[in-house]
Amino acid sequence: MDSIRIRGGRPLNGVIPISGAKNAALPLMAASLLTAETLTLENLPHLVDITTMANLLTAHGVSLHMNGAGRRCGGRSLAMTTPAITSTTAHYDLVRKMRASILVLGPLLAREGRARVSLPGGCAIGARPVDLHLKALAQMGAAISIDGGYVDARVDGRLKGAHLVFPQVTVTGTENLLMAAALADGETIIDNAAREPEVTDLAQCLIAMGAEIEGLGTQRLVVRGRESLHGATHAVLPDRIEAGSYAVAAAITRGEVLLQYADAAQMASLLKVLSAAGAAVSVEEGGVRVSAADAPLKGVDVMTEPHPGFPTDMQAQVMALFATAEGAAMVTETIFENRFMHVPELKRMGADINIHNGSAIVRGVRRLSGAPVMATDLRASMSLVLAGLAAEGETMVNRVYHLDRGYERLEQKLAACGADIERVRG
Ligand code: EPZ
Repeated sequence: MDSIRIRGGRPLNGVIPISGAKNAALPLMAASLLTAETLTLENLPHLVDITTMANLLTAHGVSLHMNGAGRRCGGRSLAMTTPAITSTTAHYDLVRKMRASILVLGPLLAREGRARVSLPGGCAIGARPVDLHLKALAQMGAAISIDGGYVDARVDGRLKGAHLVFPQVTVTGTENLLMAAALADGETIIDNAAREPEVTDLAQCLIAMGAEIEGLGTQRLVVRGRESLHGATHAVLPDRIEAGSYAVAAAITRGEVLLQYADAAQMASLLKVLSAAGAAVSVEEGGVRVSAADAPLKGVDVMTEPHPGFPTDMQAQVMALFATAEGAAMVTETIFENRFMHVPELKRMGADINIHNGSAIVRGVRRLSGAPVMATDLRASMSLVLAGLAAEGETMVNRVYHLDRGYERLEQKLAACGADIERVRG
C-alpha cells in the first residue's frame, strides 16, 4: 500500500486546476443506462471510483470509449452506449468497493423493469443505509425484497409517477429517484430533495437527454416521465470539494493559490467560513483565489448541513485548519454518525481536539508536528495531508488508496505550488 511523505512548513503559492467532480461523474455515468443512444461525458476526472463505476457499467452491457485529455485540465471524455442491458445484477465484489454503485438501481429498474443490486454495506463514516431509496422506489410501484445481501427490485411494465417525500435529505437517494422518474409513467414530485450542485448537474444532463424536470436547485423536483431518453453530451461540473480542500491547503500553509475552474457559487458556505477565519477570498475570471499570506487565522464554529449549508465532505479538512488557528472552534457533524476518524490521527500530530457526542472542540496550537498517520476514509485522509503540509517535520500518511478514490494527481497539484510531497510505493 502506497504512502505519501510530506515535509511541512512551506507556504503554497501557484495555480491548482480543479478536476471534474467525482460525486457528479458517478451518477452521470449511471444515467447512461437510461438510453440506448450514446451519452458522452466530458471533463471526467481520473479517479479509482470512476474506473470502478466503468467496470460495473460494463457488466450491465454499457460499451465505453474513453479518450485522452478533454477540453479542460486533463479531464477525459467518455462515450457510453447501452444498446441493451445484458445483466441486471450488480455483484457484491464490485459494489463493496464503492457504495455509489447503488446508483445503478434506479436506472436498471426504469430501463429494464428489474434490478438485483448488492447492498452496499457500511463504511468507515457510518452505516450508510439505503432504506429511503427503496421506500421511494416501492412507492413508484417496484416490488422490493432483500435476500442474501442483495436488493431485488422488479416492476411489471413501467414505474408509476408518485409524490415522494424524503424524511431526510439524501443525495444519492434523490439522484436514484430522479433517474427512475425520468422514464416513469406520469408525474413524480420529489419533496425534500437534495440541493447539492451534483444533483442539479445530473438533472441538467437528464434534461439534455430529453427528460422533463423542473425545480432544479430547490427542495421540490417535478419530473414528467418519458417513454425513452436520447443521447447527449454533458461536461461534468468542477469538484467543489476538491476545490475546497485546496482552498484549505492555501490557508493552512499561509500561502496563496488560484483554484482554476472552481465555481465560487457552489462553494459559498465554505468560502464564508474561510473569510470569517481571516483568509482573503476573491473570485476571478479563471476561478477562486484564496490567500492567507499575512493573516493570523482564527477558529470558526461550523455545523455540517445539506447544501447549501456547510458540506460534511469539508468537515475533516477545516478541522485541520482550526487545529493551527488562534482560539477555539466547535465543529459539529450532523450528517454521519462516525465522521471524526481523523481526530485521533490529528491529535498524534499535536492537535488539541476534544469530542463531545457529535461535536469536536478544536483549540489551535502554535505548530503541529509531523508524524506517521493512518488514513481511514477519503476526506479524513485529506485532512491528514493538509495537517502534514502545515506541520513541522515529516508526515507519512499511510493507506493513501483512500485518497486515490477522490483526488486526481494530488501530489502533482500540490508539488506544483511548492509543497515538499512525494508518493512512496508500498
Ligand atoms: C453522498 O453520499 C456523497 N457521495 C457523500 O460523499 C456525501 O458525504 C453525502 O452525499 C452527503 O453530502 C456521493 O455522492 C457518491 P446521503 P450519500 O444519502 O448519498 C442517511 C465523499 O466523501 N440515509 O445524502 O450516500 C445517511 O446514513 C462521499 O465524496 C439514510 O438513513 O449520502 C446519512 O446519515 C462521502 N437512508 C444521511 O442520510 C438512506 O436511504 C445523508 O446521506 C439514505 C441516506
